[in-house]
Amino acid sequence: MEILKNGTDRRSFLTGAGKSASVLALGPLLASMGATASTAAPMGGKYDFDTPYNRIGTDCVKWDMAIRDEHMPKIVAGMGIADMDFECVPAVTEALQKRISHHNWGYEMLDIDLLLGNGGSSPFVKGIIDWNHKRYGITAITAKNIGISTGVHSGIMPALRAFAPPGSKVLMVTPIYNAFYFDLYGSKLLANESVMKFVNGQYEIDWDDFEKRASDPMTKTTILCNPHNPVGRVWTKDELHRYGEICLKHNVKVLSDEIHCDFVGKGQKYTPFSTLDDKKMVDNSITFKAASKSFSLAGLKCAWYFATDPAVFKEVQFWNRSEVSTLGIVSSQAAYAGGEDWLNQCVDYIDGNQKFANDYINAKLPLIKVGNKPQGTYLAWLDVSGLADKIGAQKLADAENKKPQPINFLTGKPGKVIADDMVAHWLAKNAYVQLNAGYTYGSGGNNHMRMNIATSRKTLTAALDSMAAAMKNLA
Ligand SMILES: Cc1ncc(COP(=O)(O)O)c(C=O)c1O
Repeated sequence: MEILKNGTDRRSFLTGAGKSASVLALGPLLASMGATASTAAPMGGKYDFDTPYNRIGTDCVKWDMAIRDEHMPKIVAGMGIADMDFECVPAVTEALQKRISHHNWGYEMLDIDLLLGNGGSSPFVKGIIDWNHKRYGITAITAKNIGISTGVHSGIMPALRAFAPPGSKVLMVTPIYNAFYFDLYGSKLLANESVMKFVNGQYEIDWDDFEKRASDPMTKTTILCNPHNPVGRVWTKDELHRYGEICLKHNVKVLSDEIHCDFVGKGQKYTPFSTLDDKKMVDNSITFKAASKSFSLAGLKCAWYFATDPAVFKEVQFWNRSEVSTLGIVSSQAAYAGGEDWLNQCVDYIDGNQKFANDYINAKLPLIKVGNKPQGTYLAWLDVSGLADKIGAQKLADAENKKPQPINFLTGKPGKVIADDMVAHWLAKNAYVQLNAGYTYGSGGNNHMRMNIATSRKTLTAALDSMAAAMKNLA
């Protein structure tokens, strides 16, 4: 049996994972790190986001992979991959429990109905239509223009197949969600990167550059990330209109990834691309969404997309072969039907975390810089150039590159260590936190780290305290 680094076997961890175990597993760990309790008032409310929920030993990327890949003897927080540490909304757990009491797992009617455009009778489809209408005013979704996929990626892939011939370019404003580069690679496409400008503490699209790139005849598609991972922008209606206008003018199909749509801070408003008031612009787009980010259901594999132009929709359907799992359907449906209160409280809590982290970093981590509080997502984007300089990250990377490096699975050639990798290793080794290296988010990402703050305020505080303590030793 696999023995975890703290000496507990995996099975006993799994049986104990969750709230009660979290006190055992995280309590002494946090105490040993000298972590202080959150100074911000708890949000209160019906659901408990404050008590750390232990995920260690569940084979999750956010904690277990961090421990494994960074060889961490102990961990204060996994703060990489974009899922949340909270206990799932009760409505989902109840629905899953009900479904697993029936012990047959055959093919799903939904998969076939949606393939044939017969989604009308499905409560899953009705749930999506109602939720999006009520919450965001989207009226464009019908039972006939929804397609399903195991994830947003697996929906984006057939859309790229449909509209981006191999060898063509995909326009993206960067830094942008790193896994889009895998989608491009797997579709034999090239990234056409328009690096954003950093103006008055926030990222802006460089419109002249964007239009120049859109007008490149090799550019057939663009992936829009709204709200934007990793820089946390919630694009305004005017920005989206300008984006859509340029793309329409240059015949660039818009693939709008709106998976982060629920995580929008106070005073901000998510504008679905499909609600722009120019029908031609909307018809020039496909929107990709899921309940998976909002309710942290990523492991259950269920996402969906829609397009208002029937010809566009048909083209994506033609290439799509993905289906969804029974538990994915049950959980997404239950989340939309019974999860709204939970989500509202969660979004408030996250917004509080964003403020807390931003204020903390500004006050106590002089080697790290942040812009304005992120407008959306549960990701913080940290400028770590000060820390990189202090630890000599470039020199460390150069030294690493003199040693044989493992083969990069994409290029088939030995990988190259980048200074950001060394900052990530340093943080894992000295502060026991795992963050994601900025260069992986494309041009403009170097010298940054992406930090996921979707965790209990206690864990977030412990992580920041631990980073502060580690960096103090550098002074
Ligand atoms: C912008 C964006 N799109 C897509 C995904 C992944 O979606 P899925 O797991 O549904 O493929 C993520 C996950 O972090 C994301 O941030």
